[in-house]
Amino acid sequence: PKLTVVNRAGEESTIEVDDGLTVMEAIRDNGFDELLALCGGCCSCATCHVHVDPAFKGKLPEMSEDEDDLLESSDYRDENSRLSCQIPFSADLDGLKVTIAQED
Ligand code: FES
Repeated sequence: PKLTVVNRAGEESTIEVDDGLTVMEAIRDNGFDELLALCGGCCSCATCHVHVDPAFKGKLPEMSEDEDDLLESSDYRDENSRLSCQIPFSADLDGLKVTIAQED
């Protein structure tokens, strides 16, 4: 399945993602070093913040309370904000577009 990533400069790239990766891992493994993902996916750093294409909102796993709390600490949170390490990528999400959030 394919994932489109928009970096902080607004440039779009589409990458092919292996099954079993989270959106965060897919972005990081494809050389987007602006997504720091400092905690490595433990849902404790909020540096993997992305804005998700609203068309896919219904297909994403529900947000946990931890994720919600962490996102609340970001000045750039909007209604499409998610932590990308909390989104397992799958064929279901083929064509998903995420925008890397500005750095807090
Ligand atoms: Fe730290 Fe997602 S990588 S919260």
